[in-house]
Amino acid sequence: MEYLLGIDIGTSGTKTVLFDVDANTISSKTGEYPLYQEQNGWAEQKPDDWWEATVAGIKSVIRESKVDPREIKGIGLSGQMHGLVMLDSKGNPLRKSIIWCDQRTGNEVEDMNRILTPEKLIDITANPALTGFTAAKILWVKKNEPEIYSQCAHILLPKDYIRYKLTGEFATEVSDASGMQLMDVSKRNWSDEVLDALGINRELLGKMYESPDITGEVHKEAAAETGLAAGTIVVGGAGDNPAAAIGTGIVSEGSAFTTIGTSGVVYAISDKVAIDKKGRVHTLCASVPGKWTVMSCTQGAGLSLQWLRNNVCSSEVAEAKEKAIDPYEIMTEMAAQTPIGADRLIYLPYLMGERSPHPDPDCRGTFFGLSAIHERKHLIRAVLEGVAYSQLECVDVFREMGVNINKMMICGGGARSDFWRQMFADMYQCPVSTIKAEQGGALGAAILAGVGAGVYKDLEETCKKFIIKKSIHEPVKANSAEYQKYYKLYKELYITLFDSYKKLAEL
Ligand code: XUL
Repeated sequence: MEYLLGIDIGTSGTKTVLFDVDANTISSKTGEYPLYQEQNGWAEQKPDDWWEATVAGIKSVIRESKVDPREIKGIGLSGQMHGLVMLDSKGNPLRKSIIWCDQRTGNEVEDMNRILTPEKLIDITANPALTGFTAAKILWVKKNEPEIYSQCAHILLPKDYIRYKLTGEFATEVSDASGMQLMDVSKRNWSDEVLDALGINRELLGKMYESPDITGEVHKEAAAETGLAAGTIVVGGAGDNPAAAIGTGIVSEGSAFTTIGTSGVVYAISDKVAIDKKGRVHTLCASVPGKWTVMSCTQGAGLSLQWLRNNVCSSEVAEAKEKAIDPYEIMTEMAAQTPIGADRLIYLPYLMGERSPHPDPDCRGTFFGLSAIHERKHLIRAVLEGVAYSQLECVDVFREMGVNINKMMICGGGARSDFWRQMFADMYQCPVSTIKAEQGGALGAAILAGVGAGVYKDLEETCKKFIIKKSIHEPVKANSAEYQKYYKLYKELYITLFDSYKKLAEL
């Protein structure tokens, strides 16, 4: 038998999944780790926490499946995008990683605009300067921690650190690297013009590959530590969203998906570089060679619900523990008992500032319209609706850009809820489907490994074969009309609160 391994380095944990070559899950293991938030708007993780979770995951799936490691034909990596990993000349992390949702880099974004001009940045990197992307994080370390920057010998993205640990190679691939804001996105390689202007040495960056390319082999030490066979190939893989695109079959123009993980993303494929000049959504290289993507990112999607669970819903957590079920099941059941609009309560999901469609590090989460009538069930419904309105606001931008969205796939933890899926269908006013295999990013990474290893011939054909739909939710017209009333007010609120958010940041 032949097998493929997909490893997805997420924000809440690392998921390691062993698949057979028909994309059936043979064994899966998730290892969690903490998020460090030393200041309001900061977010960091330890690269070695990711590595420890990866080692434990690989060991567990090999042990559980009893598969001979030599039968694993390839490994694909997927991971949270934009995070900054800095290594010294011996390959050791110099500091915690500043991850995608960190918002400390407002000044560096201004510096980038001054040095390169907003027009040139969009022309070359296909995106406006963004606090979430890696370039601004590098400039922050350079300015604020010069003693660390001077020791930096390698700059990597989160999943590329795991590649280094497995293979010893300093490498990356286009789908994730285009979220660093250091690439010429139409040429699919590093931009010397941007690097020179920002004073970042190209030598610090990894070698660039396409997602299905072989980037190295598992070396002896990593084999001994993980139980893998030395020599197993590791392909480029992809950022978590472009990997989930492969894992949900979104590989050609005209198809789109929403993923609700810690972040919320809407992602569509394009045959050409399509840019929103207002910078409300991102343009990146796709994990399908020769294609690009338009993508939006809500910083606090699943994070908003997780925050509510951890800080407000302790009795639901206790009840879930007793019944041995997921607390989110109880929470969404409660939300379903309230009407659309949560009896006039609106939530803005800006717990970590926002990226799409409002690139703004200073805005923060808001409940608007709180009344003595409201109970926990209303708060939960307002959060589910606010996260969905945020995705709808991004879908509106896609539609304005001429990106055709008349059907949507949905994946990530949020896609498990029937109630939430129906809400998305009603808001998008188009059918919303989920797939049978829930593995998203890990499956996408494993399919890329299969293509790199020659197990599969064609990426797009393979996706068509493996992606089996599980359920379809059709929009309910009356619900759509009701949501529209609240959505109108939701959109006004960011504009109304804009100045107040700035004042809050300055307090
Ligand atoms: C996308 C983004 C997030 C992270 C974390 O631009 O920042 O989706 O990849 O999952």
